[in-house]
Amino acid sequence: MKIAVFISGRGSNLKALIDSAKAKAFPAEIALVVSNKATAGGLSYAAEENIPHFAVSPKDYPDKQTYEAAIIELLSAHQIDIVCLAGFMKLLSPYFIGHFHGPILNIHPSLLPAYKGLHTHERVIVAGEEYSGCTVHHVTEDMDAGPIIVQKKVKVSKNETPDTLAAKILKKEHQAYAQAIRIVVSELKAYTSQTTTKNEEENIMASPTPTPTKVDPEEIQRYQLTWTRFTVISKYSIIFIALVLVIMALTLL
Ligand code: GAR
Repeated sequence: MKIAVFISGRGSNLKALIDSAKAKAFPAEIALVVSNKATAGGLSYAAEENIPHFAVSPKDYPDKQTYEAAIIELLSAHQIDIVCLAGFMKLLSPYFIGHFHGPILNIHPSLLPAYKGLHTHERVIVAGEEYSGCTVHHVTEDMDAGPIIVQKKVKVSKNETPDTLAAKILKKEHQAYAQAIRIVVSELKAYTSQTTTKNEEENIMASPTPTPTKVDPEEIQRYQLTWTRFTVISKYSIIFIALVLVIMALTLL
């Protein structure tokens, strides 16, 4: 399975994914990194590991659809199976979601559906929440929504600041994303093998296309010879019988 990671900045989640993917048992490779900003620090992690990486800025395109179409082209050129948004601060449109035929995952630093959007940690602290955490979920057309794959919880301390809470949660994010990818890849594999078996069964059920049989030319020759002999013998037998009948008739007269 090939993964494209989309980033906008620091890229610590990207780095954690690159490191996880180095393990032999990890079921996917990070095959592409896309940033919407050329200045994103995370691009250097991709460069260090020789992972193809591109800064694709929306400013270089006349509209969002053309911009997203350019990214989709990159994804298909690199045969990407899964897209992982890791701090990618652009909302993907229904056009992108409809045109990329694979799972799109996102990580968000809160226990979704609570605290969607920006300034999560500040809002959690102000609200006096006892727990916060992170969520990896499938991307749908709505922001920070979609079916949840993995969630990890942390306790909010008494003298927590947005920065200390962010750091605590970030550690969990780095574990959660790799875990979510393992789950999604195994689900994809199970789905693929199910559909393959179904297709094989359908092929068996469908009337089979006849396989052309290879004909031996010597056999054709043997057949033709036998047929010629048969016709010659039959011809002479008929003449012989006719003669016998004529002789018998003359004798009787
Ligand atoms: C992460 O905390 C991620 O959860 C958050 O941006 C940060 C990116 O950090 N994403 C969102 O808030 C998306 N709604 P990173 O660049 O070091 O991976």
